[in-house]
Amino acid sequence: MKPKILVCDGMSSDIFNKLKNNENFDVYPEAKNSQEVVAKEAVEADALVIRSATKPNQEFLDKCKNLKYIIRAGEGTDNIDKVHCKEIGIKVSNTPGANNNSAAEHAISLMFTLLRKTAWANSSMQEGKWEKSKFSGNEMTNKTVGIIGFGRIGQLVAKRLTGFDPEILYFDPYASSHSVNYDNITRVENLDDIFKKSDVITVHVPLMEKTKNFITKNHFDLMNSSAIFVNAARGGIVNEQDLIDALKEGKMKAAALDVFSTEPLKEKTELHSLENLVLTPHLGGSTAEAQYRVGEMAYHQLKEFFNNGNLLNEVRI
Ligand code: MLT
Repeated sequence: MKPKILVCDGMSSDIFNKLKNNENFDVYPEAKNSQEVVAKEAVEADALVIRSATKPNQEFLDKCKNLKYIIRAGEGTDNIDKVHCKEIGIKVSNTPGANNNSAAEHAISLMFTLLRKTAWANSSMQEGKWEKSKFSGNEMTNKTVGIIGFGRIGQLVAKRLTGFDPEILYFDPYASSHSVNYDNITRVENLDDIFKKSDVITVHVPLMEKTKNFITKNHFDLMNSSAIFVNAARGGIVNEQDLIDALKEGKMKAAALDVFSTEPLKEKTELHSLENLVLTPHLGGSTAEAQYRVGEMAYHQLKEFFNNGNLLNEVRI
């Protein structure tokens, strides 16, 4: 019997077609973010390829009697109950590095959106207005950028920003070295210093037990009122209510969120009503280029796992 593969949350169509045409696999039609389809088809599947929309928790996993392998086509595996996967013998891999450039670029694009107020200027133009003085902004050049989490994505953000001659500060107790070839870069030992000293703050830590509710009111209280804050990492890392309060109280100038404590965020919440907050629907890895690289890596991992018995890029708990 050929292994049945279910692609749950969308995939590069080129790679999906390659997978479908591989005679060693039985590939379901793409579920494309339909959680009803995923829940129905996953019951018989041998492998799932997921992004962030599918959330294999204990209840979900216990229904999947044939499931052997989950590939997280992306970086973060916080949406998978990895402890239960281990208990019932399901292997988990991700695609490390494949979408990091897109994630870094999206964080940077949000920084510029806030600095140059482009999202708000666009809404104003769409209302037929010409509010030139209202949307005067700030430059990135020579600003102090504070990066929280200096793994692959945090370092890429730093590398891409060096052309703007910033002072870069980073906080990461686990980063022993880095590959950013730039002089004006300093590791800070205390997270508070990032909030006290930076004009631009960006978050790049994974969501895990230690980083849940990691950034709260105490940090926002330290910010310069002209500073901006970007979170394109994971929702649960930042206390959303504290961020809302800080934005309302003018503790910072503006913020942008690509990630939320509850996703998908389809209901309107207080987040939607703040004039100094820009929202995007978890777009970090959502580019054609990233999805091609992620899909290729996932395809290779599926072939290695089912044809050769090799488990690549295993995510351990
Ligand atoms: C990731 O963890 O790789 C990001 O959330 C991007 C994504 O999967 O869309």
